Amino acid sequence: MLSYVFGNWKSNKTVEEALTYIKQFQSATSNSTQTTGGNLQVVLCLPFPSLFPVKTYLDEHPIPSVSLGAQNVSPFSDGAYTGEVSARMLKGLVVYCLVGHSERRQYFHETDDDIAKKVEQLMTVGIIPVVCVPDAKTPVPGGVQFIAYEPVWAIGSGKPATPEQAEDVAREIRSHHPTAHIIYGGSVAKENIVGFSHLTTIEGVLPGGASLNPNTFINLIHAI
Ligand code: PGA
Repeated sequence: MLSYVFGNWKSNKTVEEALTYIKQFQSATSNSTQTTGGNLQVVLCLPFPSLFPVKTYLDEHPIPSVSLGAQNVSPFSDGAYTGEVSARMLKGLVVYCLVGHSERRQYFHETDDDIAKKVEQLMTVGIIPVVCVPDAKTPVPGGVQFIAYEPVWAIGSGKPATPEQAEDVAREIRSHHPTAHIIYGGSVAKENIVGFSHLTTIEGVLPGGASLNPNTFINLIHAI
């Protein structure tokens, strides 16, 4: 059963484009009873500059079951760390934060040690970390309640893992983290979402490309 959809915009959209998106999303959901609601939680993981304006918009025009997430956080608390955004700055803007996405590991050389520090910073302020792992062997800090399994070859390739493969790895992750919610990410789309909807271990999905257009994203949510 899928209870969570995390839309990861990655490094896309200006503030203006983000506001246009959320307005379209809002008007489409207010015209439809099935878009959100029920047990499905929808989390939009936006780039930093769009978080405050979109949060302000959502405060005035709430969309049921929709909340915000960040895509990264500083491993340090406030201080002399030029260019970094601390967990305390995100507090109040987001409910969730992705940590250790494979693109962060690949292009920004994030290590498991960095990821552990980021998780600690988030937990200190009460933001829920969603730790992304490429396999079941990658360490996940204790106490993490959301783990996203994202095979590197499936990300952006248009070739998702099969639901059976994903469920196998999810089960292995679950055996090490018995209370964590396991999410799958990697080329999730409207066309393949149904296969992931009836699994017992995977409780959510993390689409990237398929979350960038509000109508495409809503169609994916409808398909769930
Ligand atoms: P994708 O990205 O859906 O575009 O493959 C998923 C992700 O990287 O989180």
